[in-house]
Amino acid sequence: MALCVLLLVLLCVLAASRPPRQLPLSCTVVQTEVFCSDLALHSTPQDLPQGILALDLSRNQLQNLSQETLAFHTDLHRLNLHANKIHFIQPGLFAGMTQLKILDLSRNHLSAFAVHKTKIGPLGSVESLDLSSNGLYTDMTDYFLSDSPSLVNISLSGNSITKISSDAFRGSLSLRKVNLHNNVIMEIEDGAFDSLDHLSDLDLSKNSINCITDFNLYNLKSLNLSQNSLEMFQSSPSDEISQLVSLDLSQNKLPLLPLIPRKNKLEYLDVSRNQIQSVNVTGTYSGQIFFLCTCLAQPPSLTKHHTCFHHLRYLDMSYNNFQSLPECLFYTMLSLEVLNISNNCITSFSLSRDLLPKVRILNLSENSLQTFQITQKSLPSLEELYLNGNTLTTLDFNTFQSLPSLRLLHLQQNDLQMCPQNILDDFGSCISFESVSHLEYLDLSENNIQRIPAGAFRNTPLKHLDLSLNSGLTLHRDSFSGLENSLVHLYLNENNITVINADLSSLTNLKYVDLSTNQLTTLPRWNRESSIESLNLQNNNLVTLDYSTVLALERSLKTLYMGSNPLSCCSNLPFLHMLQRSEVVVPDIEAVTCVYLEDSEPVKIEKVTQEMCQNLENGSVNVIMMVVAALVLIVMLILLIKCCQSRKRKRSRSYRA
Ligand SMILES: *[C@@H]1O[C@H](CO)[C@@H](O)[C@H](O)[C@H]1NC(C)=O
Ligand SMILES: *[C@@H]1O[C@H](CO)[C@@H](O)[C@H](O)[C@H]1NC(C)=O
Ligand SMILES: *[C@@H]1O[C@H](CO)[C@@H](O)[C@H](O)[C@H]1NC(C)=O
Ligand SMILES: *[C@@H]1O[C@H](CO)[C@@H](O)[C@H](O)[C@H]1NC(C)=O
Ligand SMILES: *[C@@H]1O[C@H](CO)[C@@H](O)[C@H](O)[C@H]1NC(C)=O
Ligand SMILES: *[C@@H]1O[C@H](CO)[C@@H](O)[C@H](O)[C@H]1NC(C)=O
Ligand SMILES: *[C@@H]1O[C@H](CO)[C@@H](O)[C@H](O)[C@H]1NC(C)=O
Repeated sequence: MALCVLLLVLLCVLAASRPPRQLPLSCTVVQTEVFCSDLALHSTPQDLPQGILALDLSRNQLQNLSQETLAFHTDLHRLNLHANKIHFIQPGLFAGMTQLKILDLSRNHLSAFAVHKTKIGPLGSVESLDLSSNGLYTDMTDYFLSDSPSLVNISLSGNSITKISSDAFRGSLSLRKVNLHNNVIMEIEDGAFDSLDHLSDLDLSKNSINCITDFNLYNLKSLNLSQNSLEMFQSSPSDEISQLVSLDLSQNKLPLLPLIPRKNKLEYLDVSRNQIQSVNVTGTYSGQIFFLCTCLAQPPSLTKHHTCFHHLRYLDMSYNNFQSLPECLFYTMLSLEVLNISNNCITSFSLSRDLLPKVRILNLSENSLQTFQITQKSLPSLEELYLNGNTLTTLDFNTFQSLPSLRLLHLQQNDLQMCPQNILDDFGSCISFESVSHLEYLDLSENNIQRIPAGAFRNTPLKHLDLSLNSGLTLHRDSFSGLENSLVHLYLNENNITVINADLSSLTNLKYVDLSTNQLTTLPRWNRESSIESLNLQNNNLVTLDYSTVLALERSLKTLYMGSNPLSCCSNLPFLHMLQRSEVVVPDIEAVTCVYLEDSEPVKIEKVTQEMCQNLENGSVNVIMMVVAALVLIVMLILLIKCCQSRKRKRSRSYRA
């Protein structure tokens, strides 16, 4: 009661003290830097110390930018005006700020200023200018950039620019980095970037450009043209060395590969999500047909019509319409480390020679692969191989043994079978995973695999093995022998298995086991050596759990999934005890039910008590006793009646006599 009154008084006081006046100003001053963001300010507070070097006024209500609004601070090096409502800037304001290097004007209303065709005046010392999200459109940039000789970085992203005119950047010749992301650029006039000798980074992503011809920005290091409507990318014919390191052409409409400058240092090329069908290249060099790849038996002599990719490290060609990839495409790719060709229509991948010496990651997932053929010496550095989502049925049985660095292998969603034990010949219809010297991760789910023979993974240091979704899979007692000290994760879910006859108890490192959605009636045997931490038994046919296994698991188990099983309540009391007293978490506890008697309603496992089972027992004892008592009574009754009758008869006999 007293607390209530106190609270009420407090609320009243608070309400009364909430004034309609401005919030108290509280900029934070840290040495020469002042932070005033989010304070609903209309101008800079007057009482700030002089000589500050950095002023953050972001997310306020500034509208008209003048000497007064900035409280005559002219020594600033950095000024942040992001997210205000600035629609006017006093011309020449920044001419007086001779130290200003970084100016952030993003997310304001500067198109309202630019429509008056007024220039903001010289930005003599500014090196970095952010004009993003200001509603600026074509040619408006000139009012900001016409006199900015020191400008190095400019961001114009998130505006409405449709055209880059040839003189757009003539007042800012020091530019190195230009960000035009997310505009509606359809046209770039000839020479627009030509005078920018230092330009190294150009972001034109998310625009509406549909064609680049005569690309000749040889000093550029990074070009981003992702998310445009490009149907052509062609470099000008020249022997000048291009400095381009990164080229992103993803998410366009290219029907052919881009024509890259002949002499290049390209390391990163992304042409994913286009409509490329073959390794043919867009166009020609000065009328001469250009070959990306001359398909000779021997490496081609690198004529001047040949583009080399000696520096390329990352190549993404995923989500296109490639049907095949001639191996000559890779002849010059001696540095390639990541190759992504997933989500195409490739039916066959083969390397007949020692190519791609440095490739670490090869992504061939989601194609229509029927063959994958490599020789002993190809792909010596390959660590991760993605072959999932193909139609592989046959592979050379020792394909993976010839990949000395292979660590991770995705083969899910294919149609592979495993070779019977000790196969030495190539039957062409099965695959072996014995002695893949560095393989730690293997996914064989959804393959229709019939059986896992004894020692199938011997001498392969697997930590993670996924065999799920192979309906009807049969295991051998020694299927996992050889994995005793390595295997940590094992997936056997959705296999319609009735009994796990493989020996899992010898897998001493096994921590995560998924046996869900099978037809199991008993748990696999585990002993006290087991270190299972997470066990999924959901959706099986388990009625009674073996007490000794429960005891063995209890030591290490942390998480248990148990829902959707026809458990019996009273025959699993030790197990229920374990759940109730130990630390085991049962995430699906809501779905774990059991039944007391065969035809009774399932009850939630949390509600089961020992007493109920005892009562049930006592109850049945009572019934039996009652039945027995009733029987005894009846017998006695019958005896009594008979006795009486015989007496009567005797009496009547004597009467007759
Ligand atoms: C901005 O402020 C200046 C001086 O404080 C004034 O002369 C000018 O008219 C104002 N402009 C706008 C658009 O409000
Ligand atoms: C320009 O941008 C680059 C890359 O984001 C950055 O490292 C550099 O510090 C920026 N320069 C200035 C002056 O802001
Ligand atoms: C190119 O721009 C897109 C869109 O902004 C971005 O997602 C992508 O990471 C950029 N590419 C590179 C290589 O930086
Ligand atoms: C690729 O080029 C070859 C030889 O010039 C030509 O025969 C073939 O039709 C071209 N393919 C495509 C898809 O343009
Ligand atoms: C393989 O490529 C596909 C699409 O190109 C991508 O979604 C997937 O994440 C890639 N795999 C890896 C492991 O990078
Ligand atoms: C292609 O695969 C690489 C490596 O696996 C990955 O980094 C990249 O994101 C993938 N590309 C796409 C478009 O998913
Ligand atoms: C699972 O196995 C049973 C026999 O044990 C069989 O009747 C049933 O069709 C199998 N289910 C599937 C999906 O293979």
